[in-house]
Amino acid sequence: KKIVLAYSGGLDTSVIIPWLKENYHCQVIAVCADVGQGDELAPVREKAVKSGADKVYIEDLKQEFLEEYVWPTLKAGAVYEGKYLLGTSFARPVIAKALVKIAEQEGADAICHGATGKGNDQVRFELTVKALAPHLKIVAPWRLWDIRSREDAIDYAEKHNIPVPVTKKRPYSMDRNIWHLSHEGADLENPWNEPKDDVYMVTKTPEQAPDKPTYVEITFEKGIPVAVDGVKLGAVALLEKLNDLGAANGIGIADIAENRLVGMKSRGVYENPGGAILYYAHRELEYLTLDRATMHYKEQVAVRYAELVYDGMWFSPLREALDAFVNATQATVTGLVRLKLYKGNIMSAGSKSPYSLYHEEFVTFGRDEVYNQKDAEGFINLFGLPLKIRALMQQSQKEGKGQ
Ligand code: ARG
Ligand code: SIN
Repeated sequence: KKIVLAYSGGLDTSVIIPWLKENYHCQVIAVCADVGQGDELAPVREKAVKSGADKVYIEDLKQEFLEEYVWPTLKAGAVYEGKYLLGTSFARPVIAKALVKIAEQEGADAICHGATGKGNDQVRFELTVKALAPHLKIVAPWRLWDIRSREDAIDYAEKHNIPVPVTKKRPYSMDRNIWHLSHEGADLENPWNEPKDDVYMVTKTPEQAPDKPTYVEITFEKGIPVAVDGVKLGAVALLEKLNDLGAANGIGIADIAENRLVGMKSRGVYENPGGAILYYAHRELEYLTLDRATMHYKEQVAVRYAELVYDGMWFSPLREALDAFVNATQATVTGLVRLKLYKGNIMSAGSKSPYSLYHEEFVTFGRDEVYNQKDAEGFINLFGLPLKIRALMQQSQKEGKGQ
């Protein structure tokens, strides 16, 4: 038997290796997905081997993650519950897809992940596996074993000669990729506690940020960011650049008590320096280029899209259908946005597009051909007709003349 394991190099997934061998008498194929978590990957390979993995894959998924998951979500303008840019949520399907690919290559029987039984991540991993490879079994040790704490895990590791990381662990549960960092647990579990400055791993606090603003210009083509300050960049380099600028200026921190899919609320603090800049810039361009009806409809789509990504329903017909809608709206979302970054704030500093629907000459009050003020009277009469009819009805009711 063969089991493919989503391996991070952390204590939990290291302990899973001997646990799988003990309980399933299987070969363990450790797959470390590089989504930009910033870990050195050579030591991760070594750790997997030392923990007993029979084979190790290291997969660089950064570009695929950005181009196929993050950009579509950015184009949709999807934000979960008004704050969360979904960084962990859409990293799970890209990782699970890689696990499935390797499982098929290896002829494996099952996929194993280290998400707990109380969270969203288990759902996202498993829905992706179900959608892409319904024959594969799923093993979720946290829902099966007796390990309940970090101490239990260390205990188990020592008994099985698994290297235990010596570095003192931060008290927070963290998930990191190129798009975002999430922090949960410890003192953050009380929503009355302000996040301490040392929660932030990359982002400066506004107090630490420079006392003068940073300007940045972002070019979009059909809703996709393609250049920063006039320099064309691939997805990974572009986001890294914006992450640096955002982090230095204290941009993109979100603090939210969110609704988990599995029923309870949890409090999370997120760092999204580059992501916050991209969402803001993308929307600026849509202000110029989308007509009113499309923009307003798209705002509703964004809410549903965010829910779907959060819920791990990436590989669903609804996502494909919503993407078709969103892509149609993005045909003209091409142009340049200039932003001012200053102590945690993003401010507009100009935008332009060859497809702009904004025309100074139509807005100004001078005489012109396009907008005849006399037309407004008839428009208002008909647009206001229902209001007038209702008011007349109410009046006649009051006067006792109802039918
Ligand atoms: N609450 C966020 C979400 O559900 C972040 C989860 C963080 N996951 C983790 N394994 N630390 O998307
Ligand atoms: C976990 O429980 O594995 C992390 C948190 C989450 O999935 O929401």
